[in-house]
Amino acid sequence: MPDATAPAAPVIAIDGPGGSGKGTVSGRVASALGWHLLDSGALYRIVAWAGLERGVNLADGARLAELAGTLSIAQSGDAIVVDGQDVTQAIRAERISAGSSEVARQPPVRVALRAMQLSMRRPPGLVADGRDMATVVFPDAALKVFLDASAQERARRRYRQLLDQEPGVKVNGPLRDAASSSCGGAARAGEGEHGAAGSNSYAALLESIRARDERDRTRAVSPLRPAADAVTIDTTHMSIDAVVGEVLRYAEQRGLEAAR
Ligand code: DC
Repeated sequence: MPDATAPAAPVIAIDGPGGSGKGTVSGRVASALGWHLLDSGALYRIVAWAGLERGVNLADGARLAELAGTLSIAQSGDAIVVDGQDVTQAIRAERISAGSSEVARQPPVRVALRAMQLSMRRPPGLVADGRDMATVVFPDAALKVFLDASAQERARRRYRQLLDQEPGVKVNGPLRDAASSSCGGAARAGEGEHGAAGSNSYAALLESIRARDERDRTRAVSPLRPAADAVTIDTTHMSIDAVVGEVLRYAEQRGLEAAR
């Protein structure tokens, strides 16, 4: 039985749009402190993936919330396993990115996933990565960070990530200047099969990021926005190391300590 009189484990909430670097930064901060990590976006992605697998309309919030409650979700090392199936790669596909944004607009889904997220708050502490960690799920977080970056820089990072995942894939390269940017991997650009209008082209990624931002920032429930008491870090021109260092400095200032 959890001790009801014990203070709740501390939370560092890290929110921001896709491509702001929050996934990588949250993972690094959690391992530096020896705390647990919650990737809340993965939960929305899993519901979108499961809904598509079962032919559920992604606008049917009640049905999706019911489905979410039946899923067995497990973490095995770096792998995410849903009902016995490794979905680590599948939930990162572009169609799931778009689907998860649709799913995340449905209030019943948010309610169902909120309970799962709260249950992950455990000693010595939790680093929670998402869109509404500071505003809705953990409003009493000890540190609230909002990471941001320009849409162009976020599209560049996503583009390089796709190339890193699938080195064989060639993409048209409006990104010849991308080597100078920071929070992503090494840039590679070339002529190729997907073409400028292909779903993996930089132009298409930028368009999809802008559309997703618009949906996430303007939705009626839990829109993406910084909490009033959050510190905002613009990562456009920063390296991952610099962002992690800044978050850890804020944590130290608030007396948040690494697990012993
Ligand atoms: O961070 P991500 O790209 O993996 O998130 C996938 C989608 O889920 C994204 O469209 C925003 C949504 N999301 C959300 O609404 N609330 C969260 N706490 C996390 C993600």
